[in-house]
Amino acid sequence: MNEPGHASTQSHPSAAEVEAARDDPKQANILYHDWEANTYDEKWSISYDERCVSYARDRFAHVAGTGGWPYRNALELGCGTGFFLLNLMQAGVIEKGHVTDISPGMVEVALRNAKQLGLDVDGRVSDAETIGYDDASFDLVVGHAMLHHIPDVEQALREVLRVLRPGGRFVFCGEPSKVGDFYARKLGQLTWWATTNLTKLPGLTDWRRPQAELDESSAAAALEAVVDIHTFDPQQLRRTAIRAGAMDVEVATDELTAALLGWPVRTFEAAVPKEKLGWGWANFAYRSWRALSSVDTNVLSHIVPKELFYNVEITGVKP
Ligand SMILES: C[S@@+](CC[C@H](N)C(=O)[O-])C[C@H]1O[C@@H](n2cnc3c(N)ncnc32)[C@H](O)[C@@H]1O
Repeated sequence: MNEPGHASTQSHPSAAEVEAARDDPKQANILYHDWEANTYDEKWSISYDERCVSYARDRFAHVAGTGGWPYRNALELGCGTGFFLLNLMQAGVIEKGHVTDISPGMVEVALRNAKQLGLDVDGRVSDAETIGYDDASFDLVVGHAMLHHIPDVEQALREVLRVLRPGGRFVFCGEPSKVGDFYARKLGQLTWWATTNLTKLPGLTDWRRPQAELDESSAAAALEAVVDIHTFDPQQLRRTAIRAGAMDVEVATDELTAALLGWPVRTFEAAVPKEKLGWGWANFAYRSWRALSSVDTNVLSHIVPKELFYNVEITGVKP
């Protein structure tokens, strides 16, 4: 791994650093994700058990099918804490894994998670627009919720095709659709506003997080607005991949009612003290999300236009 970061000791960025990063999305990504690295799994309820193993496997299979499993040698871009690649390895989709991210803190946490799981993974700090690996090195390149942070998505996809062997596949999942991002943001803002105001009322103040923590969340949200560069129209993204040189490009979408529930739930969880929400709440949130996901997949995907779903997925092959 190049230049390991120090996520374990990463302090909050100063107001001056945040200000400087406002006009530099890549620097903002490093700052924001280094800052988030140690608390990221908890914030997004990421696990490395059956819950997230089946989630990662199902998202992958939804757009790319199950042919070619296991891929012998796979690279993840924008790995974060390793959620997608490590869970795909546990699902038997990938044998040997390599993680990369522009944030040193994230690569450090992903490698730590891999070690704890006993998985054969190495990693490097790398920008997806200039991937630090040789041509034709991998059978598979994956990414989850990362393309929307990349200034030049077509350049990143050209790089993906460069590091893939002929016939190798790429799979990106968890990207926000244009419509999905609109309703998710609105619901999130409304939930944050309602929760932080209602918890000022007498009798509900126990449910209010300390003001310093709420201020920190607002500072993080300001950087988040800089790092979230794109939302995607599935067919436009498909054309971008074809322009980059990919063949057999397919796009898919999922999560409609599940996203309408999921975004307010996650925002509510972030707005109240953690100890207020125990196992019962987590169980309720997960079961409700599962039930709605099943309605989305089995019913709504047949009658509602693709563009209205929240998650965009894309796959393609190197000629
Ligand atoms: C929303 S997080 C997703 C992390 C992880 N894939 C997941 O799904 O949990 C996006 C990740 O992309 C990384 N990233 C942003 N810009 C990048 C770039 N230009 N090259 C590589 N990684 C980048 C961020 O540092 C961050 O870890």
